[in-house]
Amino acid sequence: MISRYAFGSMIETDAVLHKPPIRTDRFSKLSVNEASMSLSLHLHEKDVVYGLGENVRGINKRGWLYRSKTVDEPDHSETRNSLYAAHNFILIDTDEPFALFFDYAGIITFDIGFTHLDEMKISLSDWNFDLYLIEGGDKIELVRQFRKLIGKSYIPPKWAFGYGQSRWSYHDADEVRTVVRKHRDAKVPLDMVYLDIDYMDGYKDFTVNEAAFGDLSVFTAEMRRENIHLIPIIDAGIKQENGYRVYEEGLEKGYFCVKEDGSPFIAAVWPGKSVFADIMNPEARAWFGEQYRVLVDKGIEGFWNDMNEPSIFYTEDRLKSVFAEISEMQGENMGVERFWHFQSIVNGLTGNEEDYRCFYHRYKGELIRHDRVHNLFGYFLTRGASEALCGMMPDRRYLLISRTSSIGMHRYSGVWMGDNRSWWSHLLLNMQMLPSLNMIGFLYTGCDLGGLTCDVTEDLMLRWLAMGIFYPLMRNHSAINTRRQEFYEFDLTDAFRSIISLRYRLIPYLYSEYMKAALRDEMMFRPLAFDYPEDEHASTVEDQLMLGRELMIAPVYRQNADGRYVYLPEDMKLLRFRVDGSMEEEVLEKGHHYVKVPLTDVVFFLRRGKMLPLAEAAQHSGAVDFNKLSFIKFGDQNMTYELYDDDGCSVSACDEKHFRIIGD
Ligand code: GLC
Repeated sequence: MISRYAFGSMIETDAVLHKPPIRTDRFSKLSVNEASMSLSLHLHEKDVVYGLGENVRGINKRGWLYRSKTVDEPDHSETRNSLYAAHNFILIDTDEPFALFFDYAGIITFDIGFTHLDEMKISLSDWNFDLYLIEGGDKIELVRQFRKLIGKSYIPPKWAFGYGQSRWSYHDADEVRTVVRKHRDAKVPLDMVYLDIDYMDGYKDFTVNEAAFGDLSVFTAEMRRENIHLIPIIDAGIKQENGYRVYEEGLEKGYFCVKEDGSPFIAAVWPGKSVFADIMNPEARAWFGEQYRVLVDKGIEGFWNDMNEPSIFYTEDRLKSVFAEISEMQGENMGVERFWHFQSIVNGLTGNEEDYRCFYHRYKGELIRHDRVHNLFGYFLTRGASEALCGMMPDRRYLLISRTSSIGMHRYSGVWMGDNRSWWSHLLLNMQMLPSLNMIGFLYTGCDLGGLTCDVTEDLMLRWLAMGIFYPLMRNHSAINTRRQEFYEFDLTDAFRSIISLRYRLIPYLYSEYMKAALRDEMMFRPLAFDYPEDEHASTVEDQLMLGRELMIAPVYRQNADGRYVYLPEDMKLLRFRVDGSMEEEVLEKGHHYVKVPLTDVVFFLRRGKMLPLAEAAQHSGAVDFNKLSFIKFGDQNMTYELYDDDGCSVSACDEKHFRIIGD
């Protein structure tokens, strides 16, 4: 059952599709304190708090303070309180589990046992929000009810389940050709190459550096013949430059965010001084979305929307005052305090909170200050893109991922998990984000495999890929000035080939489980306690996940480990895929096991009474044959699997009628 309570009058977030009527009785599940604009709840020792989507820390969110404010935060360490997303959904697993959703565009703090171990306190920056209480049923059912409320998840084309190679940046067409050729020559499958900011002309959105890429339509067509999709990046900031069509057109139409005096708000991102589309104005978002046509006309069918928190390096105004202050400090004999201040004014230029309070959107005939709707920026901009793409490519699915998000955006696009690092701890962190993202409908998701910043090592790359084969979005991405991490930069080519090929063998399974989750409002990845609610130990497991109905995954995420401890909540069959192409099966009993996992192996687990379909290896997703499957079973009885297949590209194909039961 879902109850909706209204506090004050909220700014529309477009998170919920069908709003139930507002309840008139008092909300009493939590104690409400309007004077301090907060709600609190006593937590019992065994209670587990799930949710908060893409965030720091573990699957159980107890023991930290989280702040829902979308930020460009490349440091995903446990000291952080916010990352790129604002996902105000929590599920409290107590005697009778229930879930809460704060439908709110402003900033919320979730203190979940941070100040007091046994108390959860949720504070809002103003008292205008809708609160949804979801009760009745187990955790899986609570999520299903919530998902029905917020609408169906985005479904990408089938080719988006292939492997993608990315780098900041591949600088010209020849470099991309080399990437593709090296994959094909070594028989390492590949479906996508991502184009980072350097494909543009001077970091100007919707332009192409033709000196480096020639006519992009010709190059896109050439890549399509190689079964490769090119996926260009689109940034939120639009360069302020006279003569640049997009800037001039938006300015003339009044489609950019403004300062209080009505002049355009200028802040710097990659191209230097830039302006930002006014996402609260539906016409402005539609106009921004329409700009994608330039690339769609060149045959592009996939995009990644970046820097849309929006990220700000510095604003023109703050930079001026910092320069003025620094010039006054020149020649000063700075003691420690003054030196720290000096450092802080320069470092404080980026993502400065004050800057987000000094520009405005046009909303219902009034100017509304940005910080009140900050968390909607990336969502609404991506929605503009998605709606426009639907118009440009009727009945054709496109690939769209965004860095920032809030609840509701799952209907329009997927997300990647932001700027992680080549750290072992991030392999685990990015895995822990999966179930909480699934709860709120973000199904098409994955992280930068190998890590974006810092130098990856070959063992980390292999272990991360061995986890990455399960992510719907499987992309290897790395940053400028870091060690390159394409497979051919390392020694163990056979291991890369066998791990990435296994992904392709799993595509029929992953695609089927994705479509079940999308069409039936389910979670593709679940914490163990969702499937084994009676098992007390299951709720403490933070490094294993249930995948679909058949599998449990347990990646190795520690360097130099020769395996790991795995907890089996029931008897399961261990499946081991070796680098030489062989496969081993071993039945393990419920309980704790140390499982050896050499660097070049992939190991995961099959549940009793289930069977896993596997395709033959293929060089690209189009060659994966869903009609030529082999099966691995756990049990002697006759078994079935519910397979999904469709044309993989039309929107109308995404339908229950494409499920079919297959037997062995
Ligand atoms: C941002 C993105 C990252 C990209 C970089 C350059 O940091 O999150 O993926 O490579 O910008 O565009």
